[in-house]
Amino acid sequence: MPDLDLGWARAQFPALKQEVNGYPAVFFDGPGGTQVPQRVIDAMRDYLVRSNANTHGAFATSRRSDEIIATAHAAVADLLGCDADEVIFGPNMTTLTFALSRALGRELRAGDEVVVTRLDHDANVAPWVALAERGAVIRTVDIHVEDCTLDMADLRRQINERTRLVAVGYASNAVGSINDVAEIIRLAHGVGALAFIDAVHYAPHASIDVRALDCDFLACSPYKFFGPHTGVLYGKREHLARLRPYKVRPALEELPGRWETGTQNHEGLAGVAAAVDYLAELGRRANPAAATCRAALLAAYEAIRPYELGLIQPLIAGLLEIPGLTFYGIRDPARFDWRTPTVAIRLAGHTPRELADFLGTRGIFTWDGNYYALNLTERLGVESSGGMLRIGLVHYNTAEEVERLLGALRELTLT
Ligand SMILES: Cc1ncc(COP(=O)(O)O)c(C=O)c1O
Repeated sequence: MPDLDLGWARAQFPALKQEVNGYPAVFFDGPGGTQVPQRVIDAMRDYLVRSNANTHGAFATSRRSDEIIATAHAAVADLLGCDADEVIFGPNMTTLTFALSRALGRELRAGDEVVVTRLDHDANVAPWVALAERGAVIRTVDIHVEDCTLDMADLRRQINERTRLVAVGYASNAVGSINDVAEIIRLAHGVGALAFIDAVHYAPHASIDVRALDCDFLACSPYKFFGPHTGVLYGKREHLARLRPYKVRPALEELPGRWETGTQNHEGLAGVAAAVDYLAELGRRANPAAATCRAALLAAYEAIRPYELGLIQPLIAGLLEIPGLTFYGIRDPARFDWRTPTVAIRLAGHTPRELADFLGTRGIFTWDGNYYALNLTERLGVESSGGMLRIGLVHYNTAEEVERLLGALRELTLT
């Protein structure tokens, strides 16, 4: 198993050097957005200094812009395992998903069905629920409340010959459960439906292969995997070419241009390519034999995944020992393969906001509330009382930081 070079990785992220009230900052807010390596900052700055222009012009900065945007498409194609023209950039996953739902809506007929879940972020719910305006029937798959996993028996019940789309998350941004998306895509295709995968929470933690999955669409957000605030939509070429996106007439008809209508965040795309480059270098450090960019990216995740699993163990074991703590999600170590290092808790006597406030004064950054996984917080009955406290780790976090969090929470239960 290749090892993660933690010292090198942490040294890449200047933000990790911050302090709060004399405490080194602990970034457990990754599911809301990760920090960026220096090369991302440099790439964005360089773009603005050397290449800042609109696209397809007959002069140097415009040509450099075209090249940088093409590089970003190629980089994300390596990350997802697809072709560069199947990668669509946009401001964020939510906006791209609404754009796709509007285009898909043009193909739907009254009575067609769309399947969403109670585990998902609302960005993978609301755009599809909006299709009810065009006569679509929306079906919602339930969860197992005891471990916050998707109820696959219910999913099988909800999919039928009228289903046109199944929209499901690769992993939950609230509780970290990973879904068996390969099986879900198979079930969707079994009835002739399309499968849309929200991989926003999954992408920083494990590798993605859209061809092996055979998903029709997959979305993710580079700002959750060490890049700037941008969004990505993968679509199978046949769908991207067939569907009619809402676009301005002069915008290109060929892929990916017909979906990238309007001016993109060019400096952001320069940063996206640099974020992928960071991951590839992490991979090459773990496995110098990785010959291609894709191989290096796979090697990066082969190093990231076991390292993160090594943090999940002490984090969850320590949390479960704290008196008055309610834990939401998979807690059985034998099933940790089905979770990311994102956990959600409540602590008796404190609202999630009070917990986040307290930890914040110790320099530990966590999120409270619903993080837009509204179906889930409502289903768990915590929405009206402040949601949950989310502790979300990525590979730049450390065992020592986990221990600091546990110590702070233990201290709080004693006061
Ligand atoms: C699982 C998941 N899906 C979708 C989104 C929305 O992504 P974006 O902010 O790029 O619109 C988020 C953001 O938190 C998320 O965590």
